[in-house]
Amino acid sequence: MAPTSPRKILVTSALPYANAPLHLGHMLEQVQADIWVRFQRSRGHDCLYVCADDAHGTAIMLAAEKQGITPEQHIARIHAHHQRDSAGFLIDFANFHSTHSAENRYWSEEIYRRLKANGHIASRAITQAFDPEKQLFLADRFIKGTCPRCKTPDQYGDNCEACGATYTPAELIDPVSAISGATPIEKDSIHFFFKLPEFEAMLRQWLDSDTLQPQVANKLREWTEAGLQEWDISRDAPYFGFEIPGEPGKYFYVWLDAPIGYIASFQNYCERTGHAFDPYWLPGGDTELYHFIGKDIINFHGLFWPAMLHSAGLRTPSAIFVHGFLTVNGTKMSKSRGTFINASTYLEHLDAEYLRYYFAAKLSSAVDDIDLNLEDFVQRVNSDVVGKIVNIASRCAGFLARGFDNRLAETCAEPALLADFIARGEAIAGLYEQREFNKAMREVVALADRANQYIDEKKPWLLAKQEGSANEVHAVCSVGVNLFRVLMIYLKPVLPAMATKAESFLACPLDWTALDTTLAGHRLGNFEPLLTRIDVKQVEAMVEASKQAAPAKTPAPTAKAESLPASTIAFEDFARVDLRIVEIVAAELVEGADKLLRLTLSLGDSQKQVFAGIRSAYEPADLVGKLTVMVANLAPRTMRFGVSEGMVLAAGPGGKDIFLLEPHAGAQPGMAVK
Ligand code: 2FM
Ligand code: ZN
Repeated sequence: MAPTSPRKILVTSALPYANAPLHLGHMLEQVQADIWVRFQRSRGHDCLYVCADDAHGTAIMLAAEKQGITPEQHIARIHAHHQRDSAGFLIDFANFHSTHSAENRYWSEEIYRRLKANGHIASRAITQAFDPEKQLFLADRFIKGTCPRCKTPDQYGDNCEACGATYTPAELIDPVSAISGATPIEKDSIHFFFKLPEFEAMLRQWLDSDTLQPQVANKLREWTEAGLQEWDISRDAPYFGFEIPGEPGKYFYVWLDAPIGYIASFQNYCERTGHAFDPYWLPGGDTELYHFIGKDIINFHGLFWPAMLHSAGLRTPSAIFVHGFLTVNGTKMSKSRGTFINASTYLEHLDAEYLRYYFAAKLSSAVDDIDLNLEDFVQRVNSDVVGKIVNIASRCAGFLARGFDNRLAETCAEPALLADFIARGEAIAGLYEQREFNKAMREVVALADRANQYIDEKKPWLLAKQEGSANEVHAVCSVGVNLFRVLMIYLKPVLPAMATKAESFLACPLDWTALDTTLAGHRLGNFEPLLTRIDVKQVEAMVEASKQAAPAKTPAPTAKAESLPASTIAFEDFARVDLRIVEIVAAELVEGADKLLRLTLSLGDSQKQVFAGIRSAYEPADLVGKLTVMVANLAPRTMRFGVSEGMVLAAGPGGKDIFLLEPHAGAQPGMAVK
């Protein structure tokens, strides 16, 4: 049973950038958080979910300029769209604010002042690429040029979309500013830094405190052990953001004030409603704080954020819940395939609850990627929700309405069966609490199978035709409705709109706290269809609409590639690729190319030299002796640093998240990979 004293919980999900519509990747996270929040509330806890738009940065400033409007007008427009789309997915925010707000300015300045007073801010000059025409410093993603590896033109400054190479803008051939087309020059300016290395001991303790998922803690530990770097928290004008107090022309970097937006949004909520603020953000309160985020932003939330909060005398999160990326039909969302699906496009074609259920059926507490397989989506929702859950109510409701004036039998004919259903509640609650939603859904569907089996065995449709069996029909359908009620309590966090309809049919609330009751002699409301089957044509229409809606790509503050080449290759082409197991016998830094490592690879009877763009993720010494996989018959390529005689295979979004494929130790150098 739920504890008697309610927990006080504050939940956030990552603040979406105010420069693009929400897509299904955003909805995965918001749905995950929303299910958890609704579950907590159903259990009687005080649980608030706040979010906001992440409204600052160069990309947003440029997007507004391009449309001939002010950044404020631009972010207001996007804010309205984001709110509409989240509401469409039944995301129950207590508040959806903006980082461009008075509360966020207050807290950003206040936290900065505290960090500075504690000696945790440094300043020094750094050299950066500068657009002499726009009079603007250029982040890597705002520089374009020809890829130094494969010579594809028009590639962004840090990685090549054609061949996957990573490099510095200085290595690009004929670099130009992506904003003005001018050739960038190098220029110095003073930047402000947060002295993260001073928090090493605090962060070690934080990482060892079981606050984070083991996979996340391990990744962050690796980075900590590689040496924490001071974090650049300032940007030069022109910049859309907050000017740093006492430093004219210097602005807080968007990632400094983004997480502070969690505090700001909550404060705005408290001011509007009179809710208490301090116990949620000062240390020692009896409250809990959880951030739901994706795996691409764990450094900001798992290192910088707790260190900042600690220095500023604020509480650190109770936990950070990290999820993986969303793939569609097994690959990254792709605009050309129509699988880069905006939230609004989905909602034009399909009911939000279909996807809420499908995500729940796939989500767990792990950091694994979640695949939305569109065929499986249709099949699973139609079978589980419509075919099994809704079916229980619809097959009983008609008999009860026609023969018994919607009144349930005075006693439950199957108390043991109903007690069994209720008894599963604590186990299911435990799964929700642990974010093992997929297991919770499996439990619920297994119970639905039992309920349907019970009705199948009793066959009320045959009994209804037999003289003298009315009482039995009444008893069976009343049991069915009671079982349905229990299942809908379990499903309400996932399917809140369907639960509202079920509440008016059942004429009773569906809260977990009321689980342990039996509806007997109870008058039902009228039954209305709860959810209809998905027609595959709706999905096809959504994919088609997504192909047409594909907007132009705007560079975002974190580089997240969202498209893969759409074309397929023939089997013969694949068969021509000679993949071999190799041993890394030497790995060295490459002077003048700080993203590359020179690898010497043994194929058993011969050696090859390969330049690999994996420096950001690996120390050379850690690679020696490892087995990996290489493309051994790639035509040699002459680079500035020497000849590269192949490629090694790695996965991951880039930066520190590049993972070389490592075959099982039993593999031998030279073996062909089949
Ligand atoms: O990665 C992103 O989309 C960021 N806008 C998330 C910010 S989360 C928080 F720190 F504000
Ligand atoms: Zn390339």
